[in-house]
Amino acid sequence: MTRTLPKMGLDGVLADESAICLIDEEQGRLQYRGYALGDLAEQASFEEVAYLLMKGDLPMEQELNAWKHVLTEEESIPEWVGRCLGDMASFSHPMDFLRTGVSLLGIIDPEANDPSHEANVRKTIKLMARIPMLITWLPCCSLKKSAISSSSPETSGTEPVGASTAETLLYHLTGSRDSAKANELEVSLNLYAEHEFNASTFAARVTASTLADLYGAVVTAIATLKGPLHGGANEEVANMLMAIGQPSKAEAWVHGRLARKERVMGFGHRVLKQEDPRSMIIKRRAGTLSEKLGEMKWFEMAEMIERTMRYEKGLLPNLDFYTAVVYLLLRIPLEAFTPIFVASRVVGWCAHITEQQDHNRLIRPRAAYIGHGKREYVPIQYRLSGGRSPANSETN
Ligand code: CMC
Repeated sequence: MTRTLPKMGLDGVLADESAICLIDEEQGRLQYRGYALGDLAEQASFEEVAYLLMKGDLPMEQELNAWKHVLTEEESIPEWVGRCLGDMASFSHPMDFLRTGVSLLGIIDPEANDPSHEANVRKTIKLMARIPMLITWLPCCSLKKSAISSSSPETSGTEPVGASTAETLLYHLTGSRDSAKANELEVSLNLYAEHEFNASTFAARVTASTLADLYGAVVTAIATLKGPLHGGANEEVANMLMAIGQPSKAEAWVHGRLARKERVMGFGHRVLKQEDPRSMIIKRRAGTLSEKLGEMKWFEMAEMIERTMRYEKGLLPNLDFYTAVVYLLLRIPLEAFTPIFVASRVVGWCAHITEQQDHNRLIRPRAAYIGHGKREYVPIQYRLSGGRSPANSETN
């Protein structure tokens, strides 16, 4: 039997069809449901983008208002979930906390095991509304929700009513209600929302393809996003910038890192080998925000790293790189960087889970076997090291 050679890491493999996101790496085009991300990112609200991704079309004003209304209604974390989580946020990794929170939300949702399109949309709304609430429970929040075991956690009384996801996150993470800053965060949410068969989305689709429930698939996705080669990169970039400390040290730092054959986080992409259109948008926002705040250090350092990486490795920054600069400028705590990615990408995950379950076929690829040839089983009392017996040790 002839076999085609496997692609390591499924590089370039077309795994299925999807109508959600177009990545045209040659032309540098990125679209959500046919709309250029460049247009959506800076003009649409995150709620509008989420509606588009889930429902397939942009909403009319009334539809968007209804969508936002349901999101606000679904915000509170059920009391049982709050009690189970207890003080878990104080000692767990923020991504583990979110993963566990989503898992618990699934346990008590009576619709959890209904894979119908309508039920999946309703579950998506709940997750979109509740993940930001779980984030507000993280210890790094400057205004964290104080009553973990309450069905409606206490608020400070000055919390914006009917606030957008970006406003809620910015307010709780930094104490700021500055609408211009919330807009910067919103642009990043729009850019993060969806990106075709990236690792976490594909992982979610694999889980969904067994007809496991949407919550389980999102748990899979959160666990996958945590890794530093994927969503965890934005926090790693901020750690790197903080470790370097000042622009004049950036070039030497990169040289040292490359000489040790270590990766520089925030560079490279499996699919986008030319300029990533998302990176260009977020870089421009980072530059403008730096000038506006009169705080150029992070941006200058990032530009120096970018120049050095281009020259030394021909590698370009990915979305996580300048997003970290924006988040540092917004004074968002580092521990919340990747959880914010979750609050946004959950929409993309759910759109894919729904698409998968609407036209499901189990995802089950093959592996090219490269292990031992046939070996004889040797009962344990006769076994030498490695399970071999004198009789068969040389023959196989
Ligand atoms: N720093 C230094 N060298 C790199 C980097 C990097 N960030 N990325 C790739 N390379 C080198 C790598 O060492 C290899 O060199 P050589 O051929 O000499 O061994 C070559 O480039 C190809 O790398 P690869 O790992 O085969 O490429 P990949 O397509 O498998 O990896 C990647 C893609 C994103 C995992 C990788 O570029 C990387 O590790 N980047 C840093 C982590 C990061 O920023 N992740 C965020 C990814 S994008 C947004 C998201 O998904 O969250």
